Amino acid sequence: MLYRREFLKFLAGSPLLANAALSSNAFGQSALEQSAFGQSATSLAFSRPPVNAAEALDVFDMRAVASSVVPPAHWGYMMSGVDGETSLRANEEAYQRYQLRVRRFVDVSKMDLSCTLFGANYASPIIVSAVGGQGAYHPEGEIAVARAVKARNHVMMLSTSTSHPIEHVNEARGQPVWFQLYTTDKFEFTTKLVQRAEQSGSSVVCVTIDRAAGRNMETATRFLRVDRRVCTSCHGPTGSDRAGRPMFSEIELDTNELTSPRLTWEFINRLRDVTKMKILIKGLETREDAALAIKYGADGIIVSNHGGRSQDSGRGTLEGLAEIVPEVKGRIPVIVDGGVRRGSDVLKAMALGATAVGIGRPYLWGLGAFGEAGVNRVLEIMNAELRLAMGGVGARTLKEISPANIMRKPA
Ligand SMILES: Cc1cc2nc3c(=O)[nH]c(=O)nc-3n(C[C@H](O)[C@H](O)[C@H](O)COP(=O)(O)O)c2cc1C
Repeated sequence: MLYRREFLKFLAGSPLLANAALSSNAFGQSALEQSAFGQSATSLAFSRPPVNAAEALDVFDMRAVASSVVPPAHWGYMMSGVDGETSLRANEEAYQRYQLRVRRFVDVSKMDLSCTLFGANYASPIIVSAVGGQGAYHPEGEIAVARAVKARNHVMMLSTSTSHPIEHVNEARGQPVWFQLYTTDKFEFTTKLVQRAEQSGSSVVCVTIDRAAGRNMETATRFLRVDRRVCTSCHGPTGSDRAGRPMFSEIELDTNELTSPRLTWEFINRLRDVTKMKILIKGLETREDAALAIKYGADGIIVSNHGGRSQDSGRGTLEGLAEIVPEVKGRIPVIVDGGVRRGSDVLKAMALGATAVGIGRPYLWGLGAFGEAGVNRVLEIMNAELRLAMGGVGARTLKEISPANIMRKPA
């Protein structure tokens, strides 16, 4: 396909894949595909991308497959950070600065990854973080994700900008999801969104507050330029169908920006007046803001920089977690997301005090690659990796994970 060829040509010059040449190997696999495939340099020469979800060995295998089937504009939007993408890289790099401190002669024959959050039990502390418009990666989008989440009993956080209505997603999940809230300047829209989520059974609302200042997504824009498809043919006359998204079916949305630059902490008080749901604040990164969140009665904090998609030149969210946990002192759950790619990353975050850990792009890679089966396999892989990492440090339950399980890598 033409757009794919142009896309590959573009990627060859992209900082994302700076070292990729476009020559094929003995197996007919382009260097580009090889470079995107697998994480271990030694595995590349004898590798081919997985042909089904079960063959994927890690989330990077899923990324390789997804990169070849998801259209360029959608792929670019998913992978994009902001500006020079230092925050995006910092998220993943932060995990590399910690090493595991293994322990021996501990009976790890029985492992338990189960996790309780707001009175509900889940099989794992890995949360499927909110991602808007998942129909861009697979036609079944959030429904496929919900089915996989149901099979593995994880928390699913559904974006305001979902491609499928919350009522359908809850049905596929088999229980109500957590609702992620975007706000505009009109509080009546917020009220309608929150009340709809509550009526559908949701008991947790996650207010995303990290995009108030706007953002500049260069990678997304560059990929858009090489996509030959016509946006308006799928996204309506403006090329963006925000107002047409299912959560806005009863709202006359008058803006394309699902954020407000005017938000202040008072918003939490107003929200409390219109809902009984637990209120989590998504997008905090400092101890000062954690203290304010507690002051304003938040029920939980999600340490997040939107996957490096809000401000650039930021820290990895793991660094934010490390300063927020001592401030919170166990009073409310602290969840972190951004850059989590391995089960060992989950362990590191929990050793630093996270109650649970969110993933975004890894499950999108599974979704783009193989739909529901891909998401299911991503969760299976990451849980298996977490189990191995916990066994290695002698922690049999989440409660047994402690700061002694990790150490900062010597400089
Ligand atoms: C394509 C994409 C869309 C996203 N959409 C939303 C959204 O609608 N609401 C939200 O709160 N966060 C959104 N996020 C941020 C995620 O919830 C999460 O914080 C982030 O993906 C975690 O980083 P990771 O992708 O490195 O795992 C989005 C992230 C991506 C990659």
